[in-house]
Order: sequence, then structure tokens, then C-alpha cells
Amino acid sequence: MLDFKIKKLKNKHIKFIQKLILNNPNKYISPKLKKTKKILKDKISYGIFVNEDLIAFNLSFFSNNVALKRTTCVISHLDFVSKDYTSNGLQKILHKHRDGKINKSIPIITRISPLNVRSLKNLLNLGFQLDKIVIKNKENGEFTVPEESYTAKHYIEMTNEDISKNEVCLDDIRYIMKK
Ligand SMILES: CC(C)(COP(=O)(O)OP(=O)(O)OC[C@H]1O[C@@H](n2cnc3c(N)ncnc32)[C@H](O)[C@@H]1OP(=O)(O)O)[C@@H](O)C(=O)NCCC(=O)NCCS
Repeated sequence: MLDFKIKKLKNKHIKFIQKLILNNPNKYISPKLKKTKKILKDKISYGIFVNEDLIAFNLSFFSNNVALKRTTCVISHLDFVSKDYTSNGLQKILHKHRDGKINKSIPIITRISPLNVRSLKNLLNLGFQLDKIVIKNKENGEFTVPEESYTAKHYIEMTNEDISKNEVCLDDIRYIMKK
């Protein structure tokens, strides 16, 4: 049984967050952590420490401008577990810990690659559901809801053939999950 402590992440942990990511390169994660300092101000990001070493974290922040509906929600921005410590359920532990600290009525939103099976499994286990599909904009690399309305239902009904016709490859797609 893993012996660990969960602590609220503070600015002094940023260098350890960056170190953890650099030591565990992963195609789903951009090592640019410019936003981290801003995110930590909301005080709902937590890390898991083993013998004072940061081995997993969740970065989350409050937002009130999601799709311009101006309702307060929590954006779960980034989950990360060191390769040496995966398969201990740490992503789920961090989500449950954060959820215990925030108002239960606040929706939680996250964005994930459909190719990221581990994280997708965990999010579904935590009660997240597919809300919408976003597709990478070729011009600026941003993920946005396509003009053509690909709803979750629409996407599920699409075949691979339809996707290629639309010149979208699976890596250009992200799921927006909500609970
Ligand atoms: C995604 C991540 C946070 C999950 O870490 P974790 O909490 O240790 O999750 P696990 O490794 O225990 O895997 C979760 C589930 O996927 C399953 N799984 C693991 N490897 C798998 C594989 N190759 N294929 C299918 N399922 C797999 C596990 O069995 C588990 O399912 P279960 O709970 O139903 O048994 C971690 O792998 C990570 O940091 N990845 C890199 C960063 C990332 O992708 N972050 C998420 C995007 S923000």
C-alpha cells in the first residue's frame, strides 16, 4: 500500500511540477506551464507527495466564462502521475480530494484526447460524461467547437470514413467531459 500525503499546491511547487513533466515526457502534455502560477491562485490544485517528492498532481481552476454562459465551473486543466506510480488510482484520488473541497453544485469540465485511454477510463469512472467534441483549428492550433455542429451524439454516430472525409484525424479531436 502506497504511503503518501496530499498537499495543496503552492508557487514553491512549480519547479517540481515542471521537473515531474520533463522526467516523464508524454505526448498529451505540453511542457509549457505558463498558466500554472495563475491556476495555483485559485487554491484547488493538489499534489501527491511520497517522502516529500511530488509524484502526481491535478491542476484545476475556477472559470466563469465557459462558452460565454457565464456560469461558474471548475476546469480540471491537467492530471499527471509519474510513470513509476501509475496504476495506484492516483488520478481518481486527486479528483475526489478536490471535489471534497468545492461546492458540490459546481460543474467540473475537462478536455481530453480520445486516444488517452487511461485518463478517459478514470474520468468515466469518476462520473464525467462526454459533453461535446472540439476539433483543432489548423490556423492557430486552438481546439474549438467546429462550425458544423458535431454534437457528442453526432460524433458517436460518425464512422471513421466520415472523419477522414472531413479531413480530421483522431489526434485533432478532443472530448470536453463534464460532471
Ligand atoms: C492519465 C494518468 C493521469 C492516469 O494515471 P493513474 O491514475 O495511475 O491511472 P492508471 O494507470 O491506474 O490507469 C487507469 C485505468 O486505465 C487502465 N489502463 C492502464 N493501462 C492501460 C492500457 N494500456 N490500455 C487500457 N487501459 C489501461 C487501468 O487498468 C485503469 O483502469 P481500471 O481502474 O478500470 O482498472 C497517467 O497515466 C498520466 O499522468 N499520464 C500522462 C499525462 C496525462 O495523460 N494526463 C491526462 C490528460 S490531462
